[in-house]
Amino acid sequence: MRIDILTLFPQVFESPLNCSILKRARDNGLVEIAITDIRDFTSDSYRKVDDKPYGGGPGMVMMPGPVFDCFEHVRRLSEEKSRVILLTPQGQKFDHVKALELSNEQRLILIAGKYEGFDERIRTGLGAEQISIGDYVLNGGELAAMVIIDAVVRLLAGALGDEDSAKDDSFSNGLLEYPQYTRPEVFRGMKVPEILLSGDHAKIAQWRHQQALERTSRWRPDLLNRKEENNK
Ligand code: 6GU
Repeated sequence: MRIDILTLFPQVFESPLNCSILKRARDNGLVEIAITDIRDFTSDSYRKVDDKPYGGGPGMVMMPGPVFDCFEHVRRLSEEKSRVILLTPQGQKFDHVKALELSNEQRLILIAGKYEGFDERIRTGLGAEQISIGDYVLNGGELAAMVIIDAVVRLLAGALGDEDSAKDDSFSNGLLEYPQYTRPEVFRGMKVPEILLSGDHAKIAQWRHQQALERTSRWRPDLLNRKEENNK
């Protein structure tokens, strides 16, 4: 997979892309991630990327010129057909199902905006789909892009050390994850559930599923309702 990010703040991505699972996935060639600075595609000496909104009102709006020029440059960096995503709080909400869908693409182009918004012609002219990571407003799309990359890359085959670990994650079966324990067996008087020490794998699997159901119904009943809707 190849992921391109268009941004005004390339430095935001440096640390998270160079740690842990993302770093390993890049080093192993599972994913190639390239960052391009939209400001490099300005044509004036101020390197201007935004301007006042037509019709008045507060804030500044990202101009279409630099974004289009940057996008056209980036698209030519690879032959692969790409899915183009604009990060905006007006987008479709990102979730596990969307992450799975994106993890099956060969190429993603993520466009992160800053300031109060994009000129509408960026969305319509680039034929981009819009994604939001939740119902709140961030200062820019950078952290949202980072969240999406993190969630998508860990779903790529071979990204996790243990091939099974994504399967048991919360949400992968529509439920929250079951409780986990490691050593010591007793910590400050709190014991590991007896069943996990029993060695009876069938019983353990059954207990875990029951626990996952219970905590989902207690903490995220909305997930169970959605599951029922999907099974109809
Ligand atoms: Cl993708 N962008 C911004 N600016 N705010 C957000 C968001 C995206 N998703 C949730 N809030």
